[in-house]
Amino acid sequence: MSRKPIIAGNWKMYKTRQEAADLANGLVSRVGTKKDVEVVLCPTYTSLETVAQAIRGSQIRLGAQNCYFEDQGAFTGEISLPMLKEIGVHYVIIGHSERRQFFGETDANINKKAAAIYRHGLTPIICVGEMLEERKANRTADVVTKQVEGCLAGLPADKVAESVIAYEPVWAIGTGVVATKEQAQEAHALIRAVVGKMFSQNVAEAVRIQYGGSVKPNNVTEIMVQPDVDGALVGGASLEADSFAGIVNFG
Ligand code: 13P
Repeated sequence: MSRKPIIAGNWKMYKTRQEAADLANGLVSRVGTKKDVEVVLCPTYTSLETVAQAIRGSQIRLGAQNCYFEDQGAFTGEISLPMLKEIGVHYVIIGHSERRQFFGETDANINKKAAAIYRHGLTPIICVGEMLEERKANRTADVVTKQVEGCLAGLPADKVAESVIAYEPVWAIGTGVVATKEQAQEAHALIRAVVGKMFSQNVAEAVRIQYGGSVKPNNVTEIMVQPDVDGALVGGASLEADSFAGIVNFG
Protein backbone atom coordinates (compact mmCIF):
# COMPACT_ATOMS: atom_id res chain seq x y z
CA MET A 1 0.00 0.00 0.00
CA SER A 2 1.38 3.39 -0.84
CA ARG A 3 1.01 6.07 1.76
CA LYS A 4 1.22 9.71 0.67
CA PRO A 5 4.00 11.52 2.53
CA ILE A 6 2.79 14.23 4.90
CA ILE A 7 5.06 17.02 6.06
CA ALA A 8 3.70 19.35 8.70
CA GLY A 9 5.17 22.51 10.18
CA ASN A 10 4.46 22.94 13.87
CA TRP A 11 5.02 26.64 14.43
CA LYS A 12 4.58 26.25 18.20
CA MET A 13 4.30 29.63 19.97
CA TYR A 14 6.11 31.56 17.25
CA LYS A 15 4.98 34.17 14.71
CA THR A 16 2.65 37.12 15.06
CA ARG A 17 -0.17 37.27 12.54
CA GLN A 18 1.84 39.44 10.17
CA GLU A 19 4.80 37.09 10.39
CA ALA A 20 2.52 34.11 9.89
CA ALA A 21 1.02 35.68 6.76
CA ASP A 22 4.50 36.35 5.36
CA LEU A 23 5.65 32.78 6.03
CA ALA A 24 2.47 31.24 4.61
CA ASN A 25 2.71 33.40 1.48
CA GLY A 26 6.34 32.40 1.07
CA LEU A 27 5.36 28.75 1.25
CA VAL A 28 2.45 29.10 -1.16
CA SER A 29 4.86 30.46 -3.76
CA ARG A 30 7.45 27.74 -3.07
CA VAL A 31 5.38 24.57 -2.51
CA GLY A 32 1.75 25.62 -2.94
CA THR A 33 1.15 23.42 -5.97
CA LYS A 34 2.92 20.34 -4.63
CA LYS A 35 0.75 17.24 -5.00
CA ASP A 36 3.02 14.27 -4.26
CA VAL A 37 3.54 15.42 -0.67
CA GLU A 38 0.83 16.68 1.64
CA VAL A 39 1.95 19.94 3.24
CA VAL A 40 0.34 21.12 6.47
CA LEU A 41 0.91 24.36 8.37
CA CYS A 42 0.07 24.48 12.08
CA PRO A 43 0.21 28.08 13.31
CA THR A 44 -1.01 29.41 16.66
CA TYR A 45 -4.77 29.73 17.13
CA THR A 46 -4.59 33.50 16.59
CA SER A 47 -2.99 33.06 13.16
CA LEU A 48 -5.20 30.22 11.90
CA GLU A 49 -7.55 32.46 9.97
CA THR A 50 -4.70 34.50 8.52
CA VAL A 51 -2.94 31.37 7.29
CA ALA A 52 -6.25 29.91 6.03
CA GLN A 53 -6.61 32.96 3.80
CA ALA A 54 -3.02 32.84 2.60
CA ILE A 55 -3.19 29.18 1.54
CA ARG A 56 -6.66 29.35 -0.03
CA GLY A 57 -6.54 27.90 -3.56
CA SER A 58 -3.24 26.13 -2.92
CA GLN A 59 -2.61 22.46 -2.05
CA ILE A 60 -1.43 23.37 1.46
CA ARG A 61 -3.63 22.36 4.38
CA LEU A 62 -4.22 23.91 7.74
CA GLY A 63 -3.60 22.31 11.13
CA ALA A 64 -4.11 23.39 14.73
CA GLN A 65 -1.72 22.60 17.59
CA ASN A 66 -4.32 21.47 20.12
CA CYS A 67 -8.06 21.39 20.81
CA TYR A 68 -10.51 20.61 23.57
CA PHE A 69 -12.83 17.61 23.32
CA GLU A 70 -16.09 19.30 24.36
CA ASP A 71 -17.99 21.17 21.64
CA GLN A 72 -18.74 24.18 23.83
CA GLY A 73 -19.20 25.14 27.46
CA ALA A 74 -17.62 26.83 30.44
CA PHE A 75 -14.01 25.87 29.67
CA THR A 76 -12.13 29.15 29.87
CA GLY A 77 -9.20 29.38 27.52
CA GLU A 78 -10.03 26.30 25.48
CA ILE A 79 -10.90 26.02 21.77
CA SER A 80 -13.40 23.50 20.38
CA LEU A 81 -13.43 21.50 17.18
CA PRO A 82 -16.45 23.25 15.63
CA MET A 83 -14.49 26.51 16.06
CA LEU A 84 -11.44 25.05 14.33
CA LYS A 85 -13.48 23.42 11.59
CA GLU A 86 -15.22 26.71 10.81
CA ILE A 87 -11.84 28.28 10.01
CA GLY A 88 -10.90 25.46 7.65
CA VAL A 89 -8.65 23.37 9.87
CA HIS A 90 -8.06 19.79 8.58
CA TYR A 91 -5.53 18.43 11.04
CA VAL A 92 -5.16 18.79 14.79
CA ILE A 93 -1.92 17.95 16.60
CA ILE A 94 -2.69 16.28 19.92
CA GLY A 95 -0.44 14.97 22.66
CA HIS A 96 2.65 16.89 21.66
CA SER A 97 5.39 16.24 24.23
CA GLU A 98 5.41 19.93 25.18
CA ARG A 99 1.74 19.64 26.07
CA ARG A 100 2.37 16.42 27.98
CA GLN A 101 5.33 18.00 29.79
CA PHE A 102 4.09 21.52 30.54
CA PHE A 103 0.30 21.24 30.43
CA GLY A 104 -0.44 17.85 31.95
CA GLU A 105 -1.76 16.17 28.82
CA THR A 106 -2.30 12.42 29.35
CA ASP A 107 -2.95 9.49 27.04
CA ALA A 108 -6.51 9.36 28.40
CA ASN A 109 -7.32 12.90 27.43
CA ILE A 110 -5.52 12.60 24.09
CA ASN A 111 -7.82 9.62 23.47
CA LYS A 112 -10.89 11.79 24.17
CA LYS A 113 -9.55 14.51 21.89
CA ALA A 114 -9.01 12.00 19.06
CA ALA A 115 -12.59 10.75 19.39
CA ALA A 116 -13.88 14.34 19.26
CA ILE A 117 -11.69 15.13 16.24
CA TYR A 118 -13.19 12.14 14.39
CA ARG A 119 -16.69 13.17 15.39
CA HIS A 120 -16.17 16.45 13.56
CA GLY A 121 -14.59 14.89 10.48
CA LEU A 122 -11.09 16.22 11.12
CA THR A 123 -7.85 14.25 11.34
CA PRO A 124 -5.58 14.00 14.37
CA ILE A 125 -1.80 14.03 14.36
CA ILE A 126 -1.23 12.01 17.52
CA CYS A 127 2.21 12.50 19.07
CA VAL A 128 4.12 9.90 21.03
CA GLY A 129 7.77 9.53 21.99
CA GLU A 130 10.10 8.61 24.81
CA MET A 131 12.21 10.86 27.00
CA LEU A 132 15.99 10.62 27.14
CA GLU A 133 16.05 8.77 30.47
CA GLU A 134 13.57 6.26 29.09
CA ARG A 135 15.70 5.58 26.04
CA LYS A 136 18.82 5.26 28.18
CA ALA A 137 16.99 2.74 30.38
CA ASN A 138 15.99 0.71 27.28
CA ARG A 139 12.35 1.51 27.93
CA THR A 140 11.58 3.11 24.55
CA ALA A 141 9.49 0.21 23.24
CA ASP A 142 7.46 -0.05 26.45
CA VAL A 143 6.83 3.67 26.71
CA VAL A 144 5.84 4.14 23.08
CA THR A 145 3.66 1.02 23.06
CA LYS A 146 1.81 2.23 26.15
CA GLN A 147 1.29 5.68 24.65
CA VAL A 148 -0.05 4.30 21.37
CA GLU A 149 -2.36 1.89 23.19
CA GLY A 150 -3.62 4.61 25.53
CA CYS A 151 -4.16 7.19 22.82
CA LEU A 152 -5.95 4.82 20.40
CA ALA A 153 -7.96 2.66 22.83
CA GLY A 154 -11.52 2.07 21.67
CA LEU A 155 -11.32 4.34 18.64
CA PRO A 156 -12.98 3.27 15.36
CA ALA A 157 -10.62 1.32 13.10
CA ASP A 158 -11.64 3.12 9.90
CA LYS A 159 -10.81 6.49 11.46
CA VAL A 160 -7.52 5.30 12.91
CA ALA A 161 -6.55 4.15 9.42
CA GLU A 162 -6.91 7.73 8.17
CA SER A 163 -5.02 9.23 11.09
CA VAL A 164 -1.46 10.40 11.46
CA ILE A 165 0.81 9.35 14.31
CA ALA A 166 3.94 11.38 14.98
CA TYR A 167 6.90 9.67 16.60
CA GLU A 168 8.81 12.43 18.32
CA PRO A 169 11.56 11.28 20.68
CA VAL A 170 11.67 14.05 23.28
CA TRP A 171 15.48 14.12 23.31
CA ALA A 172 15.48 15.02 19.60
CA ILE A 173 13.06 17.94 19.84
CA GLY A 174 14.73 21.31 19.46
CA THR A 175 18.13 19.84 20.34
CA GLY A 176 19.73 19.43 16.94
CA VAL A 177 20.15 15.74 17.82
CA VAL A 178 18.15 13.90 15.18
CA ALA A 179 17.34 10.22 15.68
CA THR A 180 19.42 7.95 13.48
CA LYS A 181 17.58 6.43 10.55
CA GLU A 182 17.76 3.07 12.33
CA GLN A 183 16.27 4.48 15.55
CA ALA A 184 13.47 6.15 13.61
CA GLN A 185 12.69 3.07 11.52
CA GLU A 186 12.71 0.81 14.58
CA ALA A 187 10.26 3.01 16.49
CA HIS A 188 8.01 3.48 13.45
CA ALA A 189 7.88 -0.25 12.78
CA LEU A 190 7.00 -0.83 16.42
CA ILE A 191 4.18 1.74 16.30
CA ARG A 192 2.81 0.17 13.12
CA ALA A 193 2.94 -3.27 14.75
CA VAL A 194 1.06 -1.99 17.82
CA VAL A 195 -1.62 -0.50 15.57
CA GLY A 196 -1.81 -3.81 13.72
CA LYS A 197 -2.31 -5.71 16.94
CA MET A 198 -4.96 -3.30 18.22
CA PHE A 199 -6.92 -3.03 14.96
CA SER A 200 -5.83 -4.96 11.87
CA GLN A 201 -3.06 -5.32 9.35
CA ASN A 202 -4.97 -3.10 6.93
CA VAL A 203 -5.27 -0.31 9.47
CA ALA A 204 -1.56 -0.63 10.29
CA GLU A 205 -0.64 -0.39 6.62
CA ALA A 206 -2.84 2.65 6.07
CA VAL A 207 -1.93 4.79 9.08
CA ARG A 208 0.74 7.39 8.34
CA ILE A 209 3.59 7.79 10.79
CA GLN A 210 5.64 10.99 10.85
CA TYR A 211 9.02 11.43 12.44
CA GLY A 212 9.64 14.62 14.44
CA GLY A 213 12.74 15.95 16.16
CA SER A 214 15.42 18.21 14.63
CA VAL A 215 14.37 17.49 11.04
CA LYS A 216 16.28 19.80 8.66
CA PRO A 217 16.67 19.99 4.87
CA ASN A 218 20.00 18.18 5.13
CA ASN A 219 18.79 15.19 7.16
CA VAL A 220 15.20 14.73 5.97
CA THR A 221 15.92 12.44 3.02
CA GLU A 222 17.64 9.62 4.87
CA ILE A 223 14.80 9.54 7.39
CA MET A 224 12.04 9.77 4.78
CA VAL A 225 13.35 6.84 2.78
CA GLN A 226 12.87 4.47 5.71
CA PRO A 227 10.03 2.07 4.89
CA ASP A 228 7.85 2.97 7.89
CA VAL A 229 8.49 6.72 7.84
CA ASP A 230 5.67 8.51 6.03
CA GLY A 231 6.43 12.10 6.81
CA ALA A 232 7.87 14.65 9.17
CA LEU A 233 6.59 16.94 11.89
CA VAL A 234 8.92 19.89 11.84
CA GLY A 235 9.43 22.55 14.49
CA GLY A 236 12.34 24.97 14.20
CA ALA A 237 13.05 24.38 10.52
CA SER A 238 9.41 25.10 9.62
CA LEU A 239 9.69 28.73 10.76
CA GLU A 240 11.53 29.87 7.67
CA ALA A 241 10.15 29.44 4.13
CA ASP A 242 13.35 28.27 2.43
CA SER A 243 14.19 25.63 5.02
CA PHE A 244 10.65 24.25 5.24
CA ALA A 245 10.36 24.20 1.44
CA GLY A 246 13.70 22.39 1.38
CA ILE A 247 12.24 19.73 3.65
CA VAL A 248 9.02 19.43 1.63
CA ASN A 249 11.12 18.96 -1.52
CA PHE A 250 13.13 16.14 0.06
CA GLY A 251 12.66 13.74 -2.86
P1 13P B 1 12.13 20.61 16.14
O1 13P B 1 11.99 20.34 14.67
O2 13P B 1 12.39 22.06 16.45
O3 13P B 1 13.11 19.69 16.79
O4 13P B 1 10.71 20.31 16.82
C1 13P B 1 10.07 19.11 16.55
C2 13P B 1 8.69 19.18 17.05
O5 13P B 1 8.45 19.23 18.25
C3 13P B 1 7.60 19.21 16.06
O6 13P B 1 6.37 19.02 16.67
